[in-house]
Amino acid sequence: AQHQSAIRIYPAQGKQTISKHIYGQFAEHLGSCIYGGLWVGKNSDIPNTDGYRTDVLNALKQLQIPNLRWPGGCFADEYHWMDGIGPQQNRPKMVNNNWGGTVEDNSFGTHEFLNLCELLGCEPYVSANVGSGSVEEMAKWVEYITSEGDSPMANLRRKNGRDKAWKVKFWGVGNESWGCGGSMRPEYYSDLYRRYATYCRNYDGNQLFKIASGASDYDYNWTETLMKQVGGRMDGLSLHYYTVTGWDGSKGSATGFDTDDFYWTMGKCLEIEEVMRKHISIMDKYDPQKKVALMVDEWGTWWDEEPGTTRGHLFQQNTLRDAMVAALTLNVFHKYTDRVKMTNIAQIVNVLQSMILTKGKQMVLTPTYYVFEMYRVHQESTFLPMDLMCEKMPVRDNREVPLLSATASRDKSGKIHISIANIDAAQSHQVSVNLQNTPLKAVSGRILSASSITACNTFEQPDNVQLKDFNGAKIQNGALNVVIPAASIITLEVK
Ligand code: AHR
Repeated sequence: AQHQSAIRIYPAQGKQTISKHIYGQFAEHLGSCIYGGLWVGKNSDIPNTDGYRTDVLNALKQLQIPNLRWPGGCFADEYHWMDGIGPQQNRPKMVNNNWGGTVEDNSFGTHEFLNLCELLGCEPYVSANVGSGSVEEMAKWVEYITSEGDSPMANLRRKNGRDKAWKVKFWGVGNESWGCGGSMRPEYYSDLYRRYATYCRNYDGNQLFKIASGASDYDYNWTETLMKQVGGRMDGLSLHYYTVTGWDGSKGSATGFDTDDFYWTMGKCLEIEEVMRKHISIMDKYDPQKKVALMVDEWGTWWDEEPGTTRGHLFQQNTLRDAMVAALTLNVFHKYTDRVKMTNIAQIVNVLQSMILTKGKQMVLTPTYYVFEMYRVHQESTFLPMDLMCEKMPVRDNREVPLLSATASRDKSGKIHISIANIDAAQSHQVSVNLQNTPLKAVSGRILSASSITACNTFEQPDNVQLKDFNGAKIQNGALNVVIPAASIITLEVK
């Protein structure tokens, strides 16, 4: 049997632009995200471009990454940037207390990060230390990176081989300051934010976009207090939301799950919409003109680490279920694009819901990677509102999940892109898509699917889940009809 569903898109009502920064990434000094994942050093026998893995670099270029957040996460509030500049052999080592007690040799520091952003053509988002760092340290970091003047920090940067200042816009003042970033109360952090942010100067035409450390999940009091105390002094306020079964004990296997777990995950993932709405309504109260952006700068799935991998390194496999979480979450972000100006999936390589997994010289692209590739077309396009009618599935914990999730946008050349995810693990859906009076000439598409929801790409079988051409969309008598197979994600291009 096939389910009948309908989508009604309203092209004439499109007003908001989907910020490309919604497709941001996150790279923390955690496990093998930086070391082994992005950076192997110039002397490695793994093919590299000035120390950056060439295979990873090339794969990431395909995604048109708009911004990259660094160096944490929790690591950011123990990171002292001066340890990561100057000749590599002189850099002191430190213990990465948050992530497995691994020794960090600081060989990847400010220059290595900012040069990577230049290679990827993306904007850097620096998350600076409030928890264990000083105001002076943060102020000097801004000066070191962005000052063109004859100033002590700009001269130190020149001595370290970089003459021209970098442009850095996105500046995070602390991370999870309620937890690993200092265990603070919102009132106390609000005051610290005011103090630290005061000394983050705009040098030589570099205009900082200052981001306050925001709430996790359901902590609405954090958002309320921050907006009340500092709403007028910040450009962005962050929010972290993970699709996770809970914070204690096992989080479940990344690959060994049943359909019940699968649908529960979809429900937990979709709950981000309600959570965002509540945070946004608080922001609206203090900032009705929407001057402060909501930055969901950590999101994605969090499963148990793969058996046999180092504890605390958060290395997890990535299945079609993760791809669904990516698609569903991006579909939600698009709807709130008037307030949500940036998001960062956690994390780019080898950590949590990553784009890429590496093992020695090998590399695989995850199902999540392919969602980001397929969804690139929505970056900087006009969001088109829609109504979606489909069946729902009851799930444990009193949740109910719609079996389809969709989004649509119009790009600068006038093409309309429609992405639809069918989370129904068993049945295909016939979807009639109504685009009002838009003349329809041609439709083409791509699909991400697999024989099972647990399918993943491994080092032995790297091509189990891949993008393919999709031929299930037809224009018939001026109407668009789509048959979307079970457990699949499509993106259509309509001309
Ligand atoms: O992304 C992993 C960790 O999750 C980050 O370091 C921290 O900010 C969050 O708790």
